[in-house]
Amino acid sequence: MTFIETLKNRRSIYALGKNIDGEKAIAAIKEATRLSPTAFNSQSGRILVVTEDAQDKLWNSIVAGDLEATMKEQGATEEAIANTKEKLAGFGKAYGTVLIYEDQDTIKDLQEKFDFYAENFPVWSEQGTGIVTMNIWGALTEEGIGANLQHYNPVIDADVAKAFDIPANWKLRGQLVFGSIEAPAADKEFISDDVRFKVAK
Ligand SMILES: Cc1cc2nc3c(=O)[nH]c(=O)nc-3n(C[C@H](O)[C@H](O)[C@H](O)COP(=O)(O)O)c2cc1C
Repeated sequence: MTFIETLKNRRSIYALGKNIDGEKAIAAIKEATRLSPTAFNSQSGRILVVTEDAQDKLWNSIVAGDLEATMKEQGATEEAIANTKEKLAGFGKAYGTVLIYEDQDTIKDLQEKFDFYAENFPVWSEQGTGIVTMNIWGALTEEGIGANLQHYNPVIDADVAKAFDIPANWKLRGQLVFGSIEAPAADKEFISDDVRFKVAK
């Protein structure tokens, strides 16, 4: 698969199952993370991969519980809460989830060391997390594994940290759910090139 072919094949796949080689997936996740560029080579990304019982616990206990509490606070109906739980149970059916973090201590150290760039480091950290997320997504695509990207942070941060012993300096930025592709992605429309690109000579 060429790089562009990988980009074409990478889609948000929501119907995911458990029929994949987990070892291969985890190896791809690690390699994609290691090889991702970061500002000042800070390597500020941190990763928690959950599978098996931990995958079930994440989606059906932690995220479901935290969202139910939040939705109740906001006055959501029982029906809306039940629909949300059903959606979350769908994520639980996937093989695993990559929880993508940024190490805030690394960012603080850089801010102290390179005062001139202090304001840039949090921005570059966000860019870094986007890059690593996309590289993991691409590496999984190359293995024929589907994924979708979720953002239940910060609602779930404290309970996830408690359940999986996550250091206080790790800040959760996204959750990439992955597994076997059980149904293809929906069609996607692209805006016109004229709107997006300028080429100058
Ligand atoms: C930064 C970013 C945040 C996203 N957040 C979510 C999300 O919270 N939930 C979700 O279902 N999809 C999320 N997505 C997926 C996008 O909706 C999806 O990538 C887009 O519609 C294009 O579809 P495709 O991934 O199939 O190409 C996110 C994507 C990006 C790049």
